[in-house]
Amino acid sequence: MATTTVTETKPAETISLSVEDKPKYTKVPGGWEVSYKGYTWFTGTIPNEDFVPPPDFEISSMSEQVPINPKGQTELPQKLNVDYTKYKYEHFLAHTTLTKETPYEPYDHVDCAGRADPEKKSLFAAIKEKKDMTPNIGTEVRGVQLSQLTSAQKDELSLWAAERGVLVFRDQDFVDQSPEFLKQYGSHFGRLHVHSFGSHVKGHPEILSNLRDSDKTVFDSYSAGMLTTTRWHSDMTYEANPMGTTFLAALSVPDCGGDTLYLNSMAAYDALSTPMKSFLETLSAIHSGARQSVHGKKKSPYRRDLVESIHPLIRKHPVTGRKALWFPPEYISGIVGLKREESNAITDMLYRHLQGSLDFHTRVKWEEGTVVVYDNRMVMHSVVLDYPLGEGEKRHHIRITPQAERPVPASRGVGEEVGMVYDPTG
Ligand SMILES: [Fe+2]
Repeated sequence: MATTTVTETKPAETISLSVEDKPKYTKVPGGWEVSYKGYTWFTGTIPNEDFVPPPDFEISSMSEQVPINPKGQTELPQKLNVDYTKYKYEHFLAHTTLTKETPYEPYDHVDCAGRADPEKKSLFAAIKEKKDMTPNIGTEVRGVQLSQLTSAQKDELSLWAAERGVLVFRDQDFVDQSPEFLKQYGSHFGRLHVHSFGSHVKGHPEILSNLRDSDKTVFDSYSAGMLTTTRWHSDMTYEANPMGTTFLAALSVPDCGGDTLYLNSMAAYDALSTPMKSFLETLSAIHSGARQSVHGKKKSPYRRDLVESIHPLIRKHPVTGRKALWFPPEYISGIVGLKREESNAITDMLYRHLQGSLDFHTRVKWEEGTVVVYDNRMVMHSVVLDYPLGEGEKRHHIRITPQAERPVPASRGVGEEVGMVYDPTG
């Protein structure tokens, strides 16, 4: 049996809140409504305050070793060799949480894009400058602050992201907002996902934090032994309610490199022949979190057990009705019902198509304050880890990841099975 690794050199990394400071959790269908500091948001999970680390628990080599609180929420900071005490975004540095929670309950998502003005007049009136990045995917936007959008403008934003796949907002004050603000903001678009083992902002597991600096990180272990760092995926498609309108914000970027690639899965579907579309619409694929987890948490417990889901290969956006080839290589472990050779042939063909057709690809070059809004149902993406590691070079992002509907198969009518159970924003 492995031994528990504990040192006594640093104070316990625990959250101690006075009674009046504690968040108020209210059970709602599919999750919890959280009220804290005047903000309210919808989350799928809450920390298990009774969690006790198991006897064979070992702290990951990527985490700082701190005393483990035997009972209560415990967070471990990412192991860093660079002094971050003067870092502007120190409060957004990456942590992992040692809790054990029950799996997500599926929930009936109400997509706010369904309330939007199809012409998006309110949002477009607020935007000074917008320019498409390519004909098939991506629009760059300047002269508007996401943080200032009204509820109706957020609805239109969600619709626009579904249509363009990727929206790149420059010079945003998003990263200057409080975590509570960001969570309430993200909750407008769906139940906030908390990663099963990904790192997050201290005390705010709904805000993912990704940092790669002079140390080796989980990103590098993903690519060990491979020719490329390119890993096409949509985020956490193995969940029963995969992700929808997603916000990725840059805090620090390397001088050059560290871009994110995006491809439009709707255009990928459109390019296929009619017979191939018809065939693929009959198929489903198995999405598994196993591959992502292999490097993420070899030794530490998961927040929730890993899950697999079966989703349609061609899905339909619940509001626009656009069909997408939804086949993220990173998470697919097979096609249901096909024999192995058949599955391999289809998989190889689709991956070559998705990855090789630059007609519907684009590339985001990050700046501090850039926020990319993308529809995880309609696009896939990959980071490019091409920049050298070294002191002063760091790539640090935070992400708010609202969940969306259980995927609508292309063969069904738009919105047929999207029920209205809980609408966090009204
Ligand atoms: Fe991702």
